[in-house]
Parts: sequence; C-alpha cells; structure tokens
Amino acid sequence: MKILYVGDMYSSNSITYLKKLLPMLKEKYNYNLLMVNGENITHGRGLSKKHYKELMELNVSVISMGNHTFGQKEILDYIDEVNNLCRPANYNAPGKGYVTINYNGKKITVINLLGRVYFEMSLDNPFKVAKEIIQNVPSDYYIIDFHAEATSEKIALGYYLDGIAHAVIGTHTHVQTSDERVLPNKTLYISDIGMTGPLEGVIGVDRNVIISRFVNGFSEPNKVATGKMQFNAVLLDFTILDKPKITRIHIEE
Ligand SMILES: [Fe+2]
Ligand SMILES: [Fe+2]
Repeated sequence: MKILYVGDMYSSNSITYLKKLLPMLKEKYNYNLLMVNGENITHGRGLSKKHYKELMELNVSVISMGNHTFGQKEILDYIDEVNNLCRPANYNAPGKGYVTINYNGKKITVINLLGRVYFEMSLDNPFKVAKEIIQNVPSDYYIIDFHAEATSEKIALGYYLDGIAHAVIGTHTHVQTSDERVLPNKTLYISDIGMTGPLEGVIGVDRNVIISRFVNGFSEPNKVATGKMQFNAVLLDFTILDKPKITRIHIEE
C-alpha cells in the first residue's frame, strides 16, 4: 500500500494545482490513497464546505487539519457529519481527532495532533494522546500528522512512537525538511512535508504584507500570494511491511 500525503494546501489555487499534477503523480508514484493537510485551503485559513467537496472530487481519502481548523466557521456545519476529516486530537473541539478508513481489507487510522511548543492554545499532551489512541483504536496502520512548529518536538514524537506508529509526518511550518528517514523500529518520519500553494509568498501569504509587518510593525491583512506554485508531499510506501519507504516530493512551476 502506498499513500501520497500532501502538505498544508494553501488557498483554493492549491486544489487546481493538485488536480493538474495528479495524473503525473499517479503515473510516477502509483499511489493507492491520497491524503492531504487542508487547514489553509480557504483564503489561507480553514476549509469551506465547497472546498471540502472539491477535495472529494479528487478522491482524497483523508483530510487532516491543524491550528486553523476553525478558520472558516462553516466547518461547524459539517465537521461532525463527515467521516474522513480530522482536527487535532489533543484539541478539545467539535469533530474527530482521528479517522479510520478501510482499504483493501486493511484499516488505516490517521491521527492529527498539534504541537505545544510555540502554540498559545489550550492543548492536551500530544505524546500521551497519540499513544492512548494507538492503544485503544484497533487498526492495521497508524499515520500521524503532527502539526507543530518545533523540529525538536516533532523528532521526539517520532522516536516516542517509533515501532507503534507506521508514520510520523510533520506539517505546519510550510517548509519542507530534508530529514526523511526510516526510524530504527521502522516508523517513517519527516519533520515537515512542506506546503502546496504559492511558491513566492511568505509561507503562502503575499510577501509584501509580511515584509511590511516585520519592517513597519503593521500591515494590511493577510492576502494569498500570487504567481508560481509549489507542490510538496511524501510517498509512504508499505508495500514490503518490514521495509517501509518514505520518498520526499518537491515540484515547482
Ligand atoms: Fe498550515
Ligand atoms: Fe498550521
């Protein structure tokens, strides 16, 4: 089984770009399941119902979220009704912290977690929450999307779950790290998948807005950057169970 996991999709343009790349990605990587982090799709914050439906049209199996889960309030109208969308499990809010899907007679559980380093949010301990879910939810595969700022926290969770989760993959910083590896007990790991969206903004936002904020201390509200696009993902390959593989994918226009 091969899962293509796409990092933080930023703006609705990222759906268009993903759609354009999918035939090539399918041909080249022959993935079975497509999963995405969708916390930034609607104007950079959250996921509207319309955009959720557009992802379903692309055969996305699971959508994980992050600190911007509730950026579009309308998510409250559908988050409890859909069975393939998860918000961070250590964040006590509407929706589910993990989802289990069936593929080819196997159960695959995706767990979304938020880091606690540099997040001023009221969060439970992601390490304990992850282990508790893995111990209590029967599944053949456990995939963790750890949405966090600090590489130290991400690496620590990778080792903490090494051998009990099948993959611990990071999201949130929007910048791909080149530290993909197989941990000693066969868990696939990367600190951050990177984002999918505008290439020449500041992690998705129009660069002039962010530069002004740093230089002048004030700026216009965030707006989505325009221009060239980038695609960042990982391929999680469990074809040979005791020899899993992780491949980092980066494409620019
Ligand atoms: Fe993000
Ligand atoms: Fe985030």
